[in-house]
Amino acid sequence: MLFLSIICVLLSLKTLALALPLGQVGTPASSLNQSSPEAFAKRSYFYIGGRYINATQPQAGKYYTSGTYMVDQLYVERLEPQNIQQKYPLLFWHGAAQTGTNWLNTPDGREGWASYFLRQGYVVYIIDQPQRGRSPWLPDNSSFAIPPTQYIETYFTTIQDFNLWPQAHLHTQWPGTGLPGSDPAFDALYASQVQLQLNVTESEANNRNAGAALLDRIGPAILITHSQAGAYGFGIGDERPNLVKGLISIEPSGPPIAAPNTTAGATPQVWGVTTLPVAYEPTVSDPATGLKTEVQSPIAEGVVGCTVQLEPAKRMVNLAQFPIAIMTSEAGYHAQYDYCTAAWLSQAGVDAEWLNLPALGVHGNSHFVFMEKNSLEIAGLVQNWIQKKGL
Ligand SMILES: *[C@@H]1O[C@H](CO)[C@@H](O)[C@H](O)[C@H]1NC(C)=O
Ligand SMILES: *[C@@H]1O[C@H](CO)[C@@H](O)[C@H](O)[C@H]1NC(C)=O
Ligand SMILES: *[C@@H]1O[C@H](CO)[C@@H](O)[C@H](O)[C@H]1NC(C)=O
Ligand SMILES: *[C@@H]1O[C@H](CO)[C@@H](O)[C@H](O)[C@H]1NC(C)=O
Ligand SMILES: *[C@@H]1O[C@H](CO)[C@@H](O)[C@H](O)[C@H]1NC(C)=O
Repeated sequence: MLFLSIICVLLSLKTLALALPLGQVGTPASSLNQSSPEAFAKRSYFYIGGRYINATQPQAGKYYTSGTYMVDQLYVERLEPQNIQQKYPLLFWHGAAQTGTNWLNTPDGREGWASYFLRQGYVVYIIDQPQRGRSPWLPDNSSFAIPPTQYIETYFTTIQDFNLWPQAHLHTQWPGTGLPGSDPAFDALYASQVQLQLNVTESEANNRNAGAALLDRIGPAILITHSQAGAYGFGIGDERPNLVKGLISIEPSGPPIAAPNTTAGATPQVWGVTTLPVAYEPTVSDPATGLKTEVQSPIAEGVVGCTVQLEPAKRMVNLAQFPIAIMTSEAGYHAQYDYCTAAWLSQAGVDAEWLNLPALGVHGNSHFVFMEKNSLEIAGLVQNWIQKKGL
């Protein structure tokens, strides 16, 4: 007993001794803005969505082979700053083969976007997509895959050495050589790759449902999506137009309608910017007949021609209820076609703005803008856009 209390006293003295030199005891929270290594004050997690199914796992041992399981639930992590200074929380939705670690810190150990936005006074929500990371899946399912290192090099980290699209040679911002085994930042990124559901309709439906359930629980939020989650963000916005106050879509899955020639896993988005239905007015019940389109000429060298609606264009009545920004890097494969996503939305009556990084003076980025050397400069552009929209 005595021994235990001595340990306790020693422990609290140690805590105090560690805390005091850092100057954080009794320091007003606002002065921690730039200097605090721990930008959040409170962290919690919960799960939302999910349903029970009866299923069989043939490979399992005798206790686990069959029974009732929960599937499609969403892992959600909530980070709260010392002072909540913003009206709406930010909800971060990562892309293919990624998890919520994307936003926590960069693969070379610098501050991530979560910390940056906590310092601006936002509550931050981070998820692992359904069937991904900490959101469970039934392991007998064969429709999952992990990208190999070669894919990561080709499409993200050393795109300049492959030159598969006209802008790729402009890439300069990866914080390392971008090669496995010799670049700690590459190895850290690759170590964080997890299995993804390859069935696009299943994945989009799961993410949409989970997103709607999450917004119903937490209330209005600003949604930030990356890549594969582009279609999910548009779908969540269509489901809950009153709860999505703004959407920043970084290099969203695309381009509208058609899959382009030179992308990684692009899929036809038959409803325009999604694979599953979204609301149009006049109503569309079958996009093959209800959306009349044409392919335009490319507006510049090195970009694809956009698929657009024939006029009079049908309106995306739900997505038109909040502002959307499409952000595109200078060198990433999306440089070929993201402008078409912004154009599709604008034509359909949406307040959509194309944040083309090179046009804003930000050069040399590839697809993972929030991990690269200038990640915080780009976070600042997101913050500026949110402020400009009065959110
Ligand atoms: C925190 O830092 C940001 C960026 O420098 C600044 O815009 C904001 O006003 C600061 N907030 C506080 C409470 O000091
Ligand atoms: C699972 O099977 C049990 C036993 O047959 C049944 O009572 C239950 O309703 C089933 N649950 C679901 C989610 O289908
Ligand atoms: C496995 O995946 C398929 C197709 O993606 C899906 O229809 C099925 O429900 C999944 N099975 C389980 C047990 O999760
Ligand atoms: C994909 O998933 C959907 C919904 O779960 C299912 O209906 C469809 O058959 C699946 N497609 C493939 C190719 O497995
Ligand atoms: C796709 O590639 C084919 C063959 O290289 C080419 O003929 C076609 O014009 C390309 N389409 C687009 C939209 O760039």
